[in-house]
Amino acid sequence: MFQGISYDYSNAAVLVTGGTSGIGLACARGFSDAGASVIITGRGSDAGEYDADLAGMEYRQLDVGDRDALYALGSSLSKLDILINNAGGSQGDEWGAEGFDLSLDVNLSSAFHLSSACKKLLAASDFPGGASIIGIASMTSYFGFELTPGYGPAKAGLVQLIKTLGMSWGREGIRANAVAAGLTRSNLTSFVIESMPDMVEETLKRQGLKRTGEPEDIAAAVLFLTSPAAAWITGQTLPVDGGFTTGMG
Ligand SMILES: NC(=O)c1ccc[n+]([C@@H]2O[C@H](COP(=O)([O-])OP(=O)(O)OC[C@H]3O[C@@H](n4cnc5c(N)ncnc54)[C@H](OP(=O)(O)O)[C@@H]3O)[C@@H](O)[C@H]2O)c1
Repeated sequence: MFQGISYDYSNAAVLVTGGTSGIGLACARGFSDAGASVIITGRGSDAGEYDADLAGMEYRQLDVGDRDALYALGSSLSKLDILINNAGGSQGDEWGAEGFDLSLDVNLSSAFHLSSACKKLLAASDFPGGASIIGIASMTSYFGFELTPGYGPAKAGLVQLIKTLGMSWGREGIRANAVAAGLTRSNLTSFVIESMPDMVEETLKRQGLKRTGEPEDIAAAVLFLTSPAAAWITGQTLPVDGGFTTGMG
């Protein structure tokens, strides 16, 4: 899947929230192809509801906005080495009180609660290089965007949460890192990419690499950060964005 690089995740148990499409699915496939035992979650009642081929991965239904469900999922597991807090997205009218609160729940609080629910298992992991928690941050972690007053602050908070988990849980053998994704093709962005060419052009103008990302571009960074090759990296957020965060347009 990742040209020229192969990982060995054969003894790893991995949980990917929102693993039914886009970035989460690319991560789940990357881990599964590398031998891991992978659990993915989605909101549908079963895996058959999704068009994507989810074969070889265990499916669990989960709404990450439901705090009790996050703790119940954590308690139901018997082994975990790697947690990918990926599920998320903007939540309708975020200038409205309900949309704002929901976006914080889905995009920030869920990562705290599920990480807490999984902490004991992660601390018991003997995966080489340490157990890992990953968050999927965004360009809105760094820049203001008027359509997402909840999502942006939540993704900014995720960067800070990852720093805090990295500092606090390192002594228990748990690393925490994030990938800040630039504009990447997925269900979340298909509307923007297909119907807002001006916005896409403005985005690409600011990049060094002049293309939208593919879910595999983000998954490649995730699999590196959770691997033994990244054993001394924690608390970091790596922008994977074609150079967007370094450009001036
Ligand atoms: N694509 C980008 O350009 C981009 C950029 C920066 C950050 N991100 C972040 O990357 C992550 C993945 O997004 P994506 O672009 O891959 O989008 P996607 O293809 O729409 O996938 C989103 C996944 O998250 C799940 N999900 C969404 N809301 C959920 C909720 N409330 N509870 C449980 N699961 C939920 C979806 O499950 P169902 O299918 O069951 O709804 C789906 O599996 C998100 O956190 C997003 O904010 C994406």
